[in-house]
Amino acid sequence: NMKPVQVKLVLLGEAAVGKSSLVLRFVNDEFQLNKEPTIGAAFLTQKCRLEDKVIKFEIWDTAGQERFHSLAPMYYRNAQAAVIVYDVTKASSLEKAKSWVKELQRQANPNIVIALTGNKVDLVANRKSRTHNDGEVDEDGEQDAQEIDEDEEDDEDYAITRQVPTEEASAYAQESGLLFFETSAKNGQGVAEVFTEIAKKIPLE
Ligand code: GTP
Ligand code: MG
Repeated sequence: NMKPVQVKLVLLGEAAVGKSSLVLRFVNDEFQLNKEPTIGAAFLTQKCRLEDKVIKFEIWDTAGQERFHSLAPMYYRNAQAAVIVYDVTKASSLEKAKSWVKELQRQANPNIVIALTGNKVDLVANRKSRTHNDGEVDEDGEQDAQEIDEDEEDDEDYAITRQVPTEEASAYAQESGLLFFETSAKNGQGVAEVFTEIAKKIPLE
């Protein structure tokens, strides 16, 4: 049966955590460094294969700015799945994510599949290996002298630190019955998995 199974999915989360960027990665396999904030909401679709089925995701990408909060129920009301996004470099965005989970558990379809996603892991992964020169050859072909950062505060890369430990968010997700992922819309890490794991969890006729 190759008739696509439609899955209505909504993305929710604080402004600038990367909801639109995750969708852009999933749908077009692209990334924009300075993506403009979403106004209201955006609608996109993407098909994907799961075993012998074709799933057509109908995606509502909502606006995270507080002034749009009251619109959200229109988008999550009939949703079969929700991706709630936070930014691993911003602890307050996990608190906002938790408040979305509570709102969905109170107001959305009781069978809704919810995935919690910590985005922007590219900013915190392999910090040491990016910061310390490990003898790599630069674009200009020169090999820099080995450099040891004794004063880490001076290094720009160290301005970005993880504020949400993986274990903290994953424990919260587990006790709340949510799927859990860490992603990077920038390099694509984990993005397809969010959608395929959701598809696996939704009862498909
Ligand atoms: P609203 O529409 O206002 O709710 O924001 P949003 O959640 O849709 O965020 P958006 O996708 O617009 O991304 C905000 C900024 O973060 C943009 O400048 C993106 O380029 C950047 N960004 C998004 N995802 C990532 C990521 O995985 N890594 C990095 N480094 N930057 C990201
Ligand atoms: Mg957006």
